[in-house]
Amino acid sequence: MNIRELVAMARKAQESSYSPYSNFKVGAALKVSNGKVYTGTNIENSSYGLTICAERVAAFKAISDGETKFKYIVITGNGKGYIYPCGACLQVLAEFSDDLQVIITDENNNYKALGLHDLLPRAFKTGQ
Ligand code: THU
Repeated sequence: MNIRELVAMARKAQESSYSPYSNFKVGAALKVSNGKVYTGTNIENSSYGLTICAERVAAFKAISDGETKFKYIVITGNGKGYIYPCGACLQVLAEFSDDLQVIITDENNNYKALGLHDLLPRAFKTGQ
């Protein structure tokens, strides 16, 4: 599964976005250490604060399937320019990865890879 294929999977998941309030559709494709890929999309709610981001949906699908070592996550969206993951998602992703590569895309499917450590250099950890 190469990056182009992961971008296509994220784009496909993005089509399922439930985002009637923001009209901002996000897709994510998360590759875990054994090569499996879990996709996610953002799911909004009329009680706005209950919205969940695409990245966390993908992460929680993987974790509930017993996959807790994350390698790559591709993020797509229907905005202009590169889509960066929010801070809450970075914190969740940091729990399950030492060296996650975050691959962000723009509206033309150009992509660039960034280290999770660069995006969130000081993730909260209890040390346990
Ligand atoms: N959103 C994501 O899915 N991922 C992010 O990293 C940031 C924001 C969603 C949440 C909401 O449904 C919409 O984008 C607008 O904030």
